[in-house]
Amino acid sequence: MPNLFATKPLDVLRCESDESGEHSLRRALGPINLITLGIGGIIGAGIFVLTGEAAAQYAGPAIVLSFIIAGLASALAGLSYAEFAALIPLAGSAYTYGYATLGELVAWIIGWDLILEYALGASTVASGWSGYVVSFLQDIGIVLPPQLTATPGTRLVLYDHRWEPLTTLLPTLHHLAIDPATLPHATGIFNLVAVVGIAAVSALLILGIRESANVTSAIVVLKVAIVLAFIAIAAAFALQHPALVAANWHPFIPPNAGQFGKFGWSGVARAAGVIFFAYIGFDAVSTASQEAKNPQRDMPWGILGSLVICTLLYIAVSGLLTGIVNYSALNVAAPVAVGIDATGVKWGSFLVKSGAVLGLFSVMIVLLLGQSRIFFAMSRDGLLPRWAGAIHPRFRTPFVSTIVVGTVVAALAALYPISVLGELVSIGTLLAFVIVSAGVWILRVRRPDLPRPFRTPWVPVVPALGITVSLLMMAALPLATWIRLVVWLVIGLAIYFGYGRHHSRVQAAQEPASAGGGS
Ligand code: ALA
Repeated sequence: MPNLFATKPLDVLRCESDESGEHSLRRALGPINLITLGIGGIIGAGIFVLTGEAAAQYAGPAIVLSFIIAGLASALAGLSYAEFAALIPLAGSAYTYGYATLGELVAWIIGWDLILEYALGASTVASGWSGYVVSFLQDIGIVLPPQLTATPGTRLVLYDHRWEPLTTLLPTLHHLAIDPATLPHATGIFNLVAVVGIAAVSALLILGIRESANVTSAIVVLKVAIVLAFIAIAAAFALQHPALVAANWHPFIPPNAGQFGKFGWSGVARAAGVIFFAYIGFDAVSTASQEAKNPQRDMPWGILGSLVICTLLYIAVSGLLTGIVNYSALNVAAPVAVGIDATGVKWGSFLVKSGAVLGLFSVMIVLLLGQSRIFFAMSRDGLLPRWAGAIHPRFRTPFVSTIVVGTVVAALAALYPISVLGELVSIGTLLAFVIVSAGVWILRVRRPDLPRPFRTPWVPVVPALGITVSLLMMAALPLATWIRLVVWLVIGLAIYFGYGRHHSRVQAAQEPASAGGGS
């Protein structure tokens, strides 16, 4: 009878982390690479898109507080990730930590769950990225066939020489009393732009970890420079117009509009749940543990350093944005572009859109990198077929899993309007946070003797808070998201019981011992 709670011995994990040669991943990443990888995965659709909706509908200027709350919640989990990533420097992130502490079944569940964060997250971001690319190209006079820029059935209309989804344009058309039926229209067939984006990212990831990290670093430098430029321009404008800023920030927490989550403190909490998406990605640094040169020293820097830098940038951007534009005007697809337009800087919108195109591209790199490494780890343990862990002899990257993941992610982004599935990405990530926080706590109790290069402070308080805050944020998500999560996990369990448990290497290694020991 297989032991569903068999844990993977830490000695085995340590041996795996010392492997080298053409069938292993290349240890090529230094501390700066890891921090840029984190920032590359974090700054994206969250700040460039969701901030506006969250400020306009839920929190007002107090969106700043929501960013602080979501940042603290992420930091609680980040501290646990940092302890594990330094202790078990292997690909696989929460999946591997789960295997070492809570046993195979939980590890499988978390590995399966992480597909929601990484693969589905990459599809969601690819959709957002294609929207920005199309808009950016239209700004410079390049108009793509609209049918190839949207998912099947999406209605698009031509207005002011630009093709836009009807749903985005409706408020403007209503305002101007224009009947959409009088405008030229088209229906989406296939989002080719998203496919091209995912294909480019997958090709880069196959080519090499060093190449992927270098492209990510270059993009991160540019996107952080653009975010800093926004901060500088907006701060200068705010200093010249203090009365406007004071008026826009008053009241800082708009009174509750009579409904839970609509402004007031409950609105701040709901906005924190929405913009939590903006922080997803710091944990992806831990999937690259096996490719870090000195993971014991550098992983905590990569995870926590990127998180702190992005939290500070988010606070500055959201504070300035709601200072220079009234929050009620921010419920648009590109709120940061609206902010910079308000300063009167002509090239501002171009700058912000370039930042978003670059920013979302690097998020796709980091999420797809994470997904292929998790499949690599699961295949190495026998829970997925061998091909999923095949390493390219020259590029030393898990090329088969990268191709398979890229194909599925591209198909999802091309065919499904997956914006509704964004919440599944959040619930999947939060579940991983719960398990990682619990894992750190459990391992401290079971193996207090282990030499930990990085120690989460105040255990068990920090992991307990990490678990509580993550569970509370999960509880705030709609019932439909919970149902989708459960369905997804049930499918995963069927695969585990049909395949994984019969092929598990950990089970195979433990069988003679169990038979001999009679347990
Ligand atoms: N944090 C990433 C983003 O905001 C997922 O796009």
